[in-house]
Order: sequence, then C-alpha cells, then structure tokens
Amino acid sequence: MDFLKRAYGMLPDMLRSSRGPPEQTVLSIKTAATLLCATCSLQSSSGASELPYYGLSPPVYPSPVGNGSTNIRWAQARNHARDMVSQMTVEEKANITRGWPGACVGNTGEVPRLSIPALCFADGPSGIRGQEFVSAFPAGIHVAATFDRHLMYQYGRALGSEFYGKGINVALGPVAGPLGRVVKGGRNWEGLSSDPYLAGAGMGAITRGIQDAGVIATPKHWLLNEQEYRRRWTPVSEAISANVDDRTLHELYAFPFMDALREGAGAVMCSYQRANHSYACQNSKLLNGILKTELGFEGFVVSDWDGQTSGVASANAGLDLAMPNAGFWGDKLVEAVHNGSVSEERISDMATRILASWYYLRQENGYPPPAIYNNTEKHFPVDVQADHARLIEEIGAAGTVVVKNLDHALPFEKPKFLCIYGYDATLKANPWQNRDRYGGGYEDNFGWITLNGTLITGGGSGGSSPPYVVSPFQALQERVARDRGILRWDFYSDNPTPYLNADACLVFVNAYASESFDRTSLTDEFSDRLVLNVASWCTNTIVVVHSAGIRLVDEWITHPNVTAALFAGLPGQESGHALTSILYGDVNPTGRLPYTVAKSESDYGDLLNPSVSDDPFPEANLTEGLSIDYRHFDLHNLTPRFEFGFGLSYTSFAYADLSTAIVPGANLAEFPDRRKNTPVVQGGHPALWEVVAVVRCTVTNTGLVEGAEIAQLYIGVPGAGQDSPVRQLRGFVKVGPLVPGQGREAVFELTRRDLSVWDVVAQDWRLRRGAYEVWVGASSRDLRVSGRVVLVD
Ligand code: NOJ
Repeated sequence: MDFLKRAYGMLPDMLRSSRGPPEQTVLSIKTAATLLCATCSLQSSSGASELPYYGLSPPVYPSPVGNGSTNIRWAQARNHARDMVSQMTVEEKANITRGWPGACVGNTGEVPRLSIPALCFADGPSGIRGQEFVSAFPAGIHVAATFDRHLMYQYGRALGSEFYGKGINVALGPVAGPLGRVVKGGRNWEGLSSDPYLAGAGMGAITRGIQDAGVIATPKHWLLNEQEYRRRWTPVSEAISANVDDRTLHELYAFPFMDALREGAGAVMCSYQRANHSYACQNSKLLNGILKTELGFEGFVVSDWDGQTSGVASANAGLDLAMPNAGFWGDKLVEAVHNGSVSEERISDMATRILASWYYLRQENGYPPPAIYNNTEKHFPVDVQADHARLIEEIGAAGTVVVKNLDHALPFEKPKFLCIYGYDATLKANPWQNRDRYGGGYEDNFGWITLNGTLITGGGSGGSSPPYVVSPFQALQERVARDRGILRWDFYSDNPTPYLNADACLVFVNAYASESFDRTSLTDEFSDRLVLNVASWCTNTIVVVHSAGIRLVDEWITHPNVTAALFAGLPGQESGHALTSILYGDVNPTGRLPYTVAKSESDYGDLLNPSVSDDPFPEANLTEGLSIDYRHFDLHNLTPRFEFGFGLSYTSFAYADLSTAIVPGANLAEFPDRRKNTPVVQGGHPALWEVVAVVRCTVTNTGLVEGAEIAQLYIGVPGAGQDSPVRQLRGFVKVGPLVPGQGREAVFELTRRDLSVWDVVAQDWRLRRGAYEVWVGASSRDLRVSGRVVLVD
C-alpha cells in the first residue's frame, strides 16, 4: 500500500511535466489506473470500516458529456450552447476554456465572430472585492449563524444583484469547502458552518439568490480544501493530500454542494490541494465521477486560480476551464486534441458547458458590460449598493449570538454611562500602524501585533471592500448621545483606567483569520488580559467577540463580573448598528453558534491543527470520518463551553407535543428508484429530495418579551453511536416572532437524503431500516422533545 501511495502521489508530478504531446501522460494514467483498480474493488467490497483512509482516488473515465436532462431550462441552454459550439474551430473552443488577462479577476477568451464575449469572474462570497460603490456583506459564517433560510436567500439575491450591476458574469462563491474540519483553518469563516446540513441550506439558498439575480454562482472549493497549510504545490513538494473515506466524502463534504447544485449552480470551482492523492482539479473521481455523474452537474468546472497541475490529465478528468490564464491548455490543448490525447468531444463539452451556464442564466440578452476598474483610473462609478445596508444590518443582528446574559444585563435600558475598551471597538485604532485594512485584529499569526481595529471580515479573496464601516464605537456614540449619557473609551491599553460609576463596560476583542495561512491560536493574551483587567473593577463587563471562526473564552467567561458575552461574528459594513440593535433590545437575538466553542484547545483533539509535515507528499488523513465539530464532542463525551446551535434570547421558550409521521404514499425503498429511465438530474437522484417524513412540535414563548426561536431538529440514524454520529442536524426553523404566551407549530420536513447514509458497497444513498431517533430543541445539547420515525420493510 505504501508503494501505491507513493506511486500515485508522484503521478501528478509526472503529468505536470507533460506539456508536450501527451501520449506518455495517457500511458501513465492507464498504468496508474490498472494499479488503482485493485484498490478500487477492494474498496467497494469491504465496507466503510475497512476503508483505507489513505485510499487512492479511483479513476473514472471518460468525462460525462452534459445532456441537459435536469429540466427544460437546462435542456434549452445546452442545445443553444451545443449549436453555438458546433460552429467553432478547435482554436476557438480552446480560447473560451482558458483565462486571459483583463479587467476582472478572471476573464475567458471571446469568439467575436459568433458574438461570444469574454466572461468576467470576480471574488467573492461576501461582496465584490476591490471595487468601489459595492457593499461589504457579512461573511458566510455569520450568515450561517442566522439559521434563517429566508435571510440566506436575500443575502444571495442582494449579493448577486451587485455582481449583475457591475457586469460580472460569474460570482466566485458561495463556500462550503473548507467545511471547517480543522478548527484553526484559515478560511472556515468564508464557509457556512461545519455542519453539512446547515451549510447545505446556506449553499442552496445563496446559490438560488445569486442566480435569481442573473449571475452564475460558483460553489467552491470542490473538494476537501480543509486547511491552508500546504494547500498548493511548490516546485519541491506536492500539496497536502486530504485522504477521506467514501462515506465521509459523501455525507459530510459533498453534501452541502448537493444543495447548491440542486438550485442550479452554473459553475463549480475545484480546489488546490490533492484529494486521496490526486489533485482536485484533475481528480476524475471527484469531477467525472461524483460531480458530473452522481450529481448530474450540467455546468462547468473552473480551476482555482493557477490550480491546474496538468494538461491532458485535467482535461480528461473533467476540468472545463483553466484560470486565470492558459495554464496547461491554450495552444497545448489544441495540440492535444489534434494528436488525439484529448477527444474533440471532450473539448466541445468543455466549451458547451461554459456556454450552457451562460445561456441558462440568459446572459446573452443585454447583460451589462463589465464595470471593473482599477481605483487609480478615472472612470464613471457604477453604484450597486442599492439599499443593501438595511439587509446587511438585519443579517448582522440575526447572526449575533448572545452566549451569556446574567441577571438581565442585556438588553440595555438607556444606560447613562458606558465605557468602551479594545481596538476591536473602533476603526484602525493603532496610530503607528498604517496597514489599511478593516479588522486585522491582533495578528500574532504574522508574528507581530497589529491593532488594526474592528473586525468585519477575514482576509484574502473572501474579504470584502466596504464602502464605509459603522464601528461599534460610532453606533454606541449615536445611542449614548440620543440618551444624553456619557462615554469613556480606551482603544489601546490592556489595563485601562477604571471608571467606577460606569453602568456597563463593553470590551471588544477579535480573532482574525485569512486565506493562505491557518490560525496559530484560538485566543490571544492581550485581549484576555484586557477582559480580566476590566472585569477586576467593572461589575457589569460585557464582552463582544468579533471572530473569523472559533474563539475560546474560558480565560474569563465564568468571571462573575463578566455579565454578558456575545459572538458578533463577521458582520460586514453595518457592524455597529447590528450590534447596538441587539445590545439595546431593538432586536431580540436569534443568532446561534455555527460551531462548537470548547473549554480548551485540547478538547478538539486532532481536529485542532492542520496537518503539518515536511514530507514532499504531505498527507492529512481524515480518520475522524464524520465526527467533526459537535459530532466529535458527542462521540468523546466532552462537555463544550458553548455547543453548536446554542444562543440566548431575551425571552424563553417551551417545546411540547412532538409528533412524527411518514408522508402517505412516500417511496420508502431502501435505495432511490433506480429504474433505467430515471434521468440524472443536477443535485443527485430526484428521489433524494422527496419529503418522506414530517416532524411537528409546538414552541411557546414563556417569557416576558416578544421573540423568535430557532427550533433545531437532530436525528440519530439506525446505528447512531456505532457507525454513525450520535446526532446530526437535519432541520431548523425560525418560529415567530411570538408574543409572550403565544405558541406556534414548528414543522420539519425530512427528505430521503436527510435520513439516508451513503452505502459504500451499493454506491448509493440508503434509507436504513429501523428506528430513527428524532429530537427537537434549542441547540445540539438542549434537546427538549423527542420521538422516533421507524422504517420497516
Ligand atoms: C484563490 C482562492 O482560493 C479562490 O477562492 C479565489 O476565488 C481565487 N483565488 C481568485 O481570487
């Protein structure tokens, strides 16, 4: 096995050097394929528990040709695209399957003779990056914390309309890879939580929103881009190989992408790193197999930027577009088609897939021309902000999670005297730093301290370009001024002067993260010291945490003077307004933690850090399988500080009367109907999306103020606690707002997919026979009512 591992690990290297006529490359693939097939049959007959985690990615060839079978809209788009591509020369096809320098982050080649324009691609998932008059939306992790599908959709729609207004054809988001396996992962905040169901809900709703605005969405990064450390190859070493078993791949990592595909995503971005020893952008199992066959993907696969590592191999493995330049294609692809290493059918399918997505979004009809400028050029500004600030504030508030609130410290009742501490409260607090970025925070990641001010987003391509930032300080000043009170502040010191008459002391801390590197710590000493120093004299210390992922709080959370604490996420440009609406009770909090906050770093075990190695073929073995985040805590019986799904309200709720029912007439066969004439549709077999069971319960407001509850449904599949997680989120619904005493029914629809496990032998989703435990409650550990759904033959 070790030999195979090595041999296959070297394969991409052999391919990378094959710029010339790629006969030899093809031979190499075949040789490797022969080696792999032995492993392949071993995999499919041996069952999940025996699967080698360092399993080799099996070969899946040829690349499936899209056929528009999903629905009439795809069929028409595909036909239109095929007609167009049939008129193109090989050179023209090769020209639209590669990137060119241009105004946008990515630009395809054009075919003027057929009026096919260059398509414009831009980052990123939480706002257009690097442009003027665009909005800075909350980051993905913040949107996930809303547990609100409606807001997720509105987010996608508003985001999409900004891309549309700027003439950008393809938006590079949303993100479900990384999913958040590695707690210190640098990009977890771009994604929609480490739970595949919650992330899937976000991926689906945001994709639909972006595309309803006329823009092609690009769910990314497919797949297993779970750490930044060694995510890319270098001339002397390969990228990390994320090695995963087949079941985990389906149930955890591919799962949220299914929702985006189901909603019609026109593009998918493949990731930089290797997956089961094969680079994701030339991994035939991931692209040809799972994405284009099992999940019936009709659109195109675009490489991450410079993420292509071979020519012929990536073409045959299912990559459709190389970005941001020719990569290993361009003239070489033409040559490969002429010498038969890549079939003409394959290059035609690449071009057809790109144009099919373009037609699917009806972008051929008067799409605005790109208005993308370098800020130093004189140009007519195109303002796409509309009234998105309101939505940004709403999502900002809805994703703010109150985790501690002693004796009604919150909401405020017109406090007259507030103290504000910490650089995170304001804009660029450190006069000695000239790094011009919002919220660099305390970056011990870089080995130096930069007190950059309030954190509203993370770093790298997922960051946003705010038109302005309303800091917490600004918004608090507005409030205090209105109430004719006073403020005192100190943004620099970790041991500020006491003001013993203060009604409350707000301490702001943050935790930054960025693309390109993983975090080095989940806390920082400066901020922890600041909280403890303030709490030593201020009996009403309220801590606000802006963080790009998990931030531990055990240094101070149980301090009796820390009366309240909020995880305020990465809220975007309206940060201060969103926060004050929660602090002052204009909005009763409904935000819920999209991850588990442990008591100590060590509780995360092997999930804490990225896999670090000097090996030229580095590997990350995902041996924990399905047990990431709260599933890890459940499996190992660990008590977290704050569990996944947790968040307080200013009122309280009672749950009662849980009932479960199988939908009359539902198809409950073990496997989805596999009749030959069932077409493959994008997002997976249609039966996976059929509702098979419904769970209901009532939720009543038992407190004194109006509020809404996020009711969460968890299931334990037959076998839970043995070969499956103890509990998994499979539903959530915002109930309310409810006035005190008011009750309402919460209804959860469970689809076949929600109840299925991936059967590695059958290579299909399977509804197990037996009892499915069902719990509904206020978090993954605060389960209030329970029942069962029993499936028998
Ligand atoms: C690399 C990042 O991984 C990807 O997410 C981004 O879209 C591209 N760069 C383009 O900026």
